[in-house]
Amino acid sequence: MTLHIGDTAPDFEAVTTEGTIRFHDYIDGKWAVLFSHPKNFTPVCTTELGYTAKLKDKFDARGVVVMGLSVDDIGDHDQWAKDIEETQGTALNFPLIADKDRKVATLYDMIHPNASDTMTVRTVFVIGPDKKVKMSLNYPASTGRNFDEILRVIDSLQLTSEHKVATPVNWQDGDDVIIVPAVSDEDARKTYPDGWKAPRPYLRIVPQPK
Ligand code: BEZ
Repeated sequence: MTLHIGDTAPDFEAVTTEGTIRFHDYIDGKWAVLFSHPKNFTPVCTTELGYTAKLKDKFDARGVVVMGLSVDDIGDHDQWAKDIEETQGTALNFPLIADKDRKVATLYDMIHPNASDTMTVRTVFVIGPDKKVKMSLNYPASTGRNFDEILRVIDSLQLTSEHKVATPVNWQDGDDVIIVPAVSDEDARKTYPDGWKAPRPYLRIVPQPK
């Protein structure tokens, strides 16, 4: 099933390193990241999972729960978790789905047959408190992802869910933002009585709202 931005993230029940979890109950009312990686006991995946575990405080600060997935069985996960802790210096601190039968991988279109019939590609889904998909990406097995970028996207998603703004290229939390085109100048003046910078009428730049 192809999932688009705005679709409801499908529910499922899965065996994970933290027990059996029903996804919608687990993420209920929270922001969530669900990501797949190709296979246990592979080098790039080992670095990705260790780094994601290191970011726990940053995900927590944003109210985000994280869940990983691979198409291996639960016994393998437990063994690999020890390797991750020993080689990356941080133990897994989020549930890792054991999707041996590829039920969840199929539901989320994580297997791209022209890349591999058996392994998942590197997908990331950011899901909002309303359980809608807010962002998705696919990377090939050979390219490790930048999980700091996932945090940056979450900062933008959380800001733009509260304010009628959008974030420009390479934006980082605290940088100036853009008033969305759907807001008229008249309405924008109510929110931004001090005005805005406008190098073009459609490009209205204001400090990031608090
Ligand atoms: C890796 O995680 O290192 C990896 C997995 C599958 C194919 C290539 C690399």
